[in-house]
Amino acid sequence: MVEGQGNRNFQEPYRPQLHFSPAAGWMNDPNGMVYYEGEYHLFYQYYPDGTRWGPMHWGHAVSPDMVQWKHLPIALAPDEHGTIFSGSAVVDWRDTTGFFRGGSGLVAIFTQHDTDPGTGKQRQRQSLAYSSDKGRTWTMYAGNPVLSEPELADFRDPKVFWYEPKRQWVMVISAADHIRFYRSDDLKSWELTGQFGNDGQGSHDGVWECPDLFELPVDGGAAGLKKWVLIVSIGERPDLPEGSRTQYFVGSFDGDMFHNDNPAETVLWLDAGRDNYAGVTWSDIPEEDGRRLFIGWMSNWKYANLTPTDKWRGAMTIPRELRLYDSGQGVRLRQFPVRELEELRKSAVHVTSAALRDGERKLLIECGGLLDMEAQFEWDEGTSEIGLILRMSESESEETVIGLDTATLRLFADRTRSGDSGFHPLFACRHDAVLEEPAGERKLKLRMIMDRCSVEVFANDGSAVITDLVFPLARDKIRMEAYVNGGRATVQAEAIELQSIYSTE
Ligand code: FRU
Repeated sequence: MVEGQGNRNFQEPYRPQLHFSPAAGWMNDPNGMVYYEGEYHLFYQYYPDGTRWGPMHWGHAVSPDMVQWKHLPIALAPDEHGTIFSGSAVVDWRDTTGFFRGGSGLVAIFTQHDTDPGTGKQRQRQSLAYSSDKGRTWTMYAGNPVLSEPELADFRDPKVFWYEPKRQWVMVISAADHIRFYRSDDLKSWELTGQFGNDGQGSHDGVWECPDLFELPVDGGAAGLKKWVLIVSIGERPDLPEGSRTQYFVGSFDGDMFHNDNPAETVLWLDAGRDNYAGVTWSDIPEEDGRRLFIGWMSNWKYANLTPTDKWRGAMTIPRELRLYDSGQGVRLRQFPVRELEELRKSAVHVTSAALRDGERKLLIECGGLLDMEAQFEWDEGTSEIGLILRMSESESEETVIGLDTATLRLFADRTRSGDSGFHPLFACRHDAVLEEPAGERKLKLRMIMDRCSVEVFANDGSAVITDLVFPLARDKIRMEAYVNGGRATVQAEAIELQSIYSTE
């Protein structure tokens, strides 16, 4: 049961039952995620007075496990320096700021957005707020803003971390078409140390936003190898169908500057679905845990203001653990739903298998609609396509298909007939991810999490991910069929029903 929601029942049509969503109002990016004294904090871009993007605040929730969330009052509200855009939070363990009388506390570093009274132009500057009571109350720093670059119109979304080798704070921040790196001793005064990206690195299909930078072992540290990952979200551009999406770079970082391991033109997408944007990772996860934990905003600027919900709009992805592995083509990210999600498993487990031949489709599972499942496919040479058809509504004409073109190894999600899609002409679509697995193995492993308005697909141990919103006519059951085109295939599946985070079971 999620505390702090009075007697609201959170049962509106499409209300996520496994994912975080605000009780009411508009939500976009996750912000300020930090772990401190047994709590995972999640702040988020929030407009409390409507269900479309508006003057931004930081909403706030805490959780012992990233699954059950307790809603807390708004943490940061607009002030004389502007509205509160995206940013991060850190634990200031050594009181480098002097805010905590020698103890520790939380410091939020975020963008304030306003209009420059002198020029009448939009302005984005970086500010601090701090809390000595585990994030329950926040004080705006009297010296705000702490960092401004007047020549930059887009200068936002600071992600800050402590870089031990140089014993300094590092800020990674987006500046239209590149990322900047700053250093500081006290979080208050910042010095530019480097920049990355505007020499044609990666995708520039949209404005760069919401960066993150962290180090991870490759293949669990087997060969002692570690790499730095730079995450960069790229904004919506009206002439491209994909809308907003997130790329990442793999390379090295020396405390001042990031160096890309790959040729500039290599583009690595974090998620091949349409609905995982502005995601970043938690700060200050204890060393003995050691995970790099990520959450994204499960929507897309293409249509985020139009999705068919009433009282609230916006949800987060399932929290995920990020790992690096060597794919043979280079070092790449894998994503795994956090293990804490297993707490929601009910006793109903459906184990099934089927053998199919060309043109056949067979009912695999019919069960409750909140689901964590795994399926393994194997096929023979003549097979051209395999997949799962998900029916999440009574309507025979509604289905979402997750399939694989076995010749190209393209894993696709087809939501052209997935339910309500009339709110935007580009919502009904099919898109795909290339599996970076050796050709010729003829095996596919899928893990899928299904909620009331989303499907998250993690293929081959999270090496390809598709996160998609879908809006089927509400019903509590899923009917899942397997199909094969050409040749023969077998599928084995195990589906575990999950209980709602709002259930009292
Ligand atoms: C990304 C973003 C950020 C900005 C925030 C405003 O979705 O555009 O760059 O800080 O949303 O809400």
